[in-house]
Amino acid sequence: MRLSLRFVLPLMLVLAAIAYGVAPLVDQLTLRWFVRDMDIRAKLIANAMHDPLVEQLKAGSKTRVANYFARVAQDERLYAIGYCATPESPPLATRSLPAEIRCDNLDQWEEAESPLLTSPRGPLHVAVKPLEGGEEDGEDADAGTEPAAEPKPRAGGWLVLIHDMSFVERRSAETKRYVFYFFMGLAAVISLITVVIAQLSWRGWVSGMRSLLRGEGLLRDPGQGGNAPEFRPIARDLQRLIRELETEHLSRDESQITWTPDSLRAILHGELRGEDVIVVSNREPYIHQRRGERVEIQRPASGLVTALEPIMRACSGTWIAHGSGSADREVVDGRDHIAVPPDKPAYQLRRIWLTPEEEAGYYYGFANEGLWPLCHIAHVRPTFRSADWAHYVAVNKKFAKAVKAEARTHNPIVMIQDYHFALLPRMIHEELPEATIITFWHIPWPNPESFAICPWREEIISGLLGSSILGFHTQFHCNNFVDTVDRTIEARVDRESFTVSLGGKLTAVRRYPISIAWPPEPEMVAKPVDQCRAEIRRTEGLPAEQMIGVGVDRLDYTKGITERFRAVERLLESKPEWIGRFSFVQIAAPSRSGIDEYQHHEAQVRALATRINERFGVGRRDSPPPIILKVEHHEPHEVYAYYRAAELCFVSSLHDGMNLVTKEFVAARDDERGVLILSQFTGAARELPEAVIVNPYDADQCAAALHVALTMPAAEQRDRMRLMRGLVREFNVYRWAGRMLLDAATMRRRDRLTEKPVASASPL
Ligand code: G6P
Repeated sequence: MRLSLRFVLPLMLVLAAIAYGVAPLVDQLTLRWFVRDMDIRAKLIANAMHDPLVEQLKAGSKTRVANYFARVAQDERLYAIGYCATPESPPLATRSLPAEIRCDNLDQWEEAESPLLTSPRGPLHVAVKPLEGGEEDGEDADAGTEPAAEPKPRAGGWLVLIHDMSFVERRSAETKRYVFYFFMGLAAVISLITVVIAQLSWRGWVSGMRSLLRGEGLLRDPGQGGNAPEFRPIARDLQRLIRELETEHLSRDESQITWTPDSLRAILHGELRGEDVIVVSNREPYIHQRRGERVEIQRPASGLVTALEPIMRACSGTWIAHGSGSADREVVDGRDHIAVPPDKPAYQLRRIWLTPEEEAGYYYGFANEGLWPLCHIAHVRPTFRSADWAHYVAVNKKFAKAVKAEARTHNPIVMIQDYHFALLPRMIHEELPEATIITFWHIPWPNPESFAICPWREEIISGLLGSSILGFHTQFHCNNFVDTVDRTIEARVDRESFTVSLGGKLTAVRRYPISIAWPPEPEMVAKPVDQCRAEIRRTEGLPAEQMIGVGVDRLDYTKGITERFRAVERLLESKPEWIGRFSFVQIAAPSRSGIDEYQHHEAQVRALATRINERFGVGRRDSPPPIILKVEHHEPHEVYAYYRAAELCFVSSLHDGMNLVTKEFVAARDDERGVLILSQFTGAARELPEAVIVNPYDADQCAAALHVALTMPAAEQRDRMRLMRGLVREFNVYRWAGRMLLDAATMRRRDRLTEKPVASASPL
């Protein structure tokens, strides 16, 4: 409406100006037409008067001529009539004949192009018409009507007809008014037509853009109602441009944000209008364990939990997880909820109960004997059993039901974690088609050949493609996933936008490197480094000047713990000066001990540590052991004390999605000391090149790295540590979650724009 007014008003003004501009023209034109009309009229009157007038003149009675003129002049337009016999004679005329008309100046009026005379009553038209006739007729004139002294009127001479033209002014004023109305009407019609056309074209343009954004329209086949193929490159370029602009805009915004719990909360409230966030993971953030009379709360050794816990504190959503603790059921309410963290509740933990059979099949079996070794390619064969698969499907369904029950709206944001729930995204999508589902795969994704081992590969991929966004730590894993889709199922893969479309559902495959909270919780770094050094050495029975290396892992065969020990052995072999001066403390949290492979692995690790200790330490009186193996659960603050006490931290995973121990070690070293030795097969190695990067399979290289670390000058340690701390500070876990949530927000906005259900993700 406003647009129409903005257009119509100026148009009206312009046309009104034009109307006023043409007014004088209208005057001139109408006058010219009427002058011509008067000429014609005068000619007609003159013709009509000819014979009677000649008769009168022949009769020679001026009175009769005067009476005749008076009768004819009753015509309202005819103002005066006159007759001149000769230029010299006085006119024989009605009284109204203006004085300006004389018989001696008739030539001038006869020849004038516009014979108009101005008078007080308006313009007068003067027509001079010669009369046919003969002077000889003069003798026959009636002498009885006029005085004998006056000359008799004769036939011949000139008839003068004066027309009143004042009506022309009235007509002209009327015409001007009509012309003005006409132009105004014209303006209104033009405006109306223009506005209608503009509206139609705007709508067409908008719907065109919408279909472009949806990837339809220009990209559709002509057969399906799309445009000719020659437009497709243009459409693709346009789409790419829009995507690039959006990505740029997003990354610019993202990099401008200082990522903290508060900024994350602000994003949820601003970008996502305070949406409810539901997190689903197998491992719960707080485990209640019964120890005799007491209930102890444990925080599990899980990178996933380490990363998500601060996010949930910031977002105050609901976290759905398997209730695995022996006292878990005792502490929940009637709806299986408990508010956590226990000391300062910030979000709800909803526990899901699994039967021992379900846990055996879904968790130990399919997830950890099947998918875990399948994805890590750490030389442990995956084992797939149909019974495990059946439990895996059933437990995924159980969690899907719980998500539906916990959802407060029809379109919650559901963040699904890890390989325990490959089927859950599609199940939730079917239950809540408008939910935005972000799935994060915390472990590596293997190449298509390796993944082909899985008998249920199609179901797994199709399950994951129920997600709106599917995240991995590295681009390498994104590429592997997209390659696997390409080789395994019939889906449309777009490698430019990195999206996969299956059955009309679009999934964006994205890289989101996970991280830790920054700054670390104050109690983690509360104890001064010197104090940590002294206490840890005392606790471990080591001399105060002993050099210490530390490893912190779950006792898992993917972590390369045996490779690490061999590297220590190699160091002591090749650099014997370290014997007795260097000890490696391995904190190994017991993990998945129900699985044979883990039991073998633990046995191997223990045996290797014993052998190395026997070879280089134990047996020598008072000599500190080269390896201190601590297979037990440690709370985070205890782990931080080791990080702060050590000269180096060794992460030697054979394959790892990210590995958060690296980032924790860096966060713990606010003294800017300590060296990180890092396996090249971790996601973290791509982000922290300032670490000493090694191939864990190469014992000599790892031994050399240990030596380098133990002898690295303080200044170099500081330089490297500063860079690494800078990266972890900037790319902290709030940014990890924030980026995913921002992407989800963009997706929801775009879906609203394209009027599609939010679950049908558009390319980011
Ligand atoms: C890895 C997985 C997590 C898992 C953690 C601990 O980090 O990616 O999903 O929670 O290991 O394993 P657990 O089996 O004890 O949960």
